[in-house]
Amino acid sequence: MICVAAENFDEWRKAARNLLAAGRAPEQVGWDGNGGLFAESDNTASTTASPAKVPADFVTLATRTACHRDPEKWALLYRALWRLSHGEPYLLKMATDPLIHRLRRMDGEIRRDAHKTKAFVRFRLLQENGENHYVAWHRPDHTVLPLVAGFFQRRFAVMRWSIVTPDQSLAWDGEALRWGPGLPASEVAHEDKFEDVWRTYYRATFNPARIKIKMMKQEMPVRHWATLPETHIIPDLLAEAETRVGKMIGAMEGDRETAENYFPSVPDYPSLRSAAAGCRACGLCGPATQTVFGEGNLDARIMLVGEQPGDEEDLRGRPFIGPAGQLLMELLQKTGLSREELYVTNAVKHFRFVQRGKKRIHQPPDACNVIACKPWLQTEIKLVRPKVIVALGATAGRALVHHGFTLKHDQHKDLFFDGIPVYATWHPSAALRATQPQPRADIEHHILETLKRAMGFR
Ligand code: URA
Ligand code: SF4
Repeated sequence: MICVAAENFDEWRKAARNLLAAGRAPEQVGWDGNGGLFAESDNTASTTASPAKVPADFVTLATRTACHRDPEKWALLYRALWRLSHGEPYLLKMATDPLIHRLRRMDGEIRRDAHKTKAFVRFRLLQENGENHYVAWHRPDHTVLPLVAGFFQRRFAVMRWSIVTPDQSLAWDGEALRWGPGLPASEVAHEDKFEDVWRTYYRATFNPARIKIKMMKQEMPVRHWATLPETHIIPDLLAEAETRVGKMIGAMEGDRETAENYFPSVPDYPSLRSAAAGCRACGLCGPATQTVFGEGNLDARIMLVGEQPGDEEDLRGRPFIGPAGQLLMELLQKTGLSREELYVTNAVKHFRFVQRGKKRIHQPPDACNVIACKPWLQTEIKLVRPKVIVALGATAGRALVHHGFTLKHDQHKDLFFDGIPVYATWHPSAALRATQPQPRADIEHHILETLKRAMGFR
């Protein structure tokens, strides 16, 4: 098994080309969606491999799918690329093929999100060094900013503007597009502080003396977008300028239902549990068997937060009792902690899966599921008030820390949820998926050390 890390489409394309040239079948390659804590590059493959010939359609599909939050996207794309170049040149036309069906669904989600981004982004006018600067804060479901960069660049070519999202940001100074890091929603939440937050951010990120240009040339071909006259657009922009950013964010979140709409009038633990059993705030409640609420010691010092219930948890209604749960309990035992001392829960309370024959295959939750479900988690934390929260895997990190959370970037930072320290580690199922003995041991070791740290041993 070769572990390859890809953080964006270009990195994936480069790695995929080399792997293909080296004849590595999809089963031999592990794509680590988090950028690879234990990633090693495959140096056996030639980097001068001649580019594989793939249909243009696939490149378009892959460019878009690369913006999806599903960490399996790289593996799925590589599987499709492999099959395209191994005797199935018409694969993309086979809409009923499960792989193509899934990729097309992801593609649809990305296209809708990109469309919404184009429609929803609202700029407000700020002055920076005496110059007009149009600034927008936007929270897309996926990391679609690269796909809409060309649209905004052409549409608003004569102005200076920037669009900031929780994952990344983009600025246009009239000549060049510049990419920068994201800005967590928590920092933008107070509308009256937004100007200051943005100015500090802008100076730190786009100050010409400090710019580290990493042009990600991932734009969509723009031929199907109508060419719009640039100048008459400006009044449109200003029409919404009085809309405060905080309100915008609130309104966008308000577009969707969240678990809060299902809260009981008495917010004690038993009432919450039974209210959560009737939650219908997102689409996951339909196919799943039942809500799997957190459980354990309500005075726990340590709270464990996983992703979502798995197949067994869904059937039996308790968190972490399937294979990942068993591994977690084995690791817990090594620390001397017992399950009864802890509170154990998940970021999302319903099992997300696709049915393949008789099997229910786990699917990671979407950002909208995490957002919809977060009020349950927040309330559990409020009631238990643990001293430490252990985030198991990226979904827990996204729910607790910020939407763009990755283990690679965030695990060494001091993380908090509502003032409570958050220690992030791998999800135990990552250890179960790892096929080589070494990475599995490394992942288990990391989880174990994190649990010990949470106990105050480290
Ligand atoms: N994985 C999780 O994240 N939570 C569970 O409860 C089971 C598996
Ligand atoms: Fe409600 Fe969470 Fe279930 Fe969605 S996943 S229906 S928000 S409990």
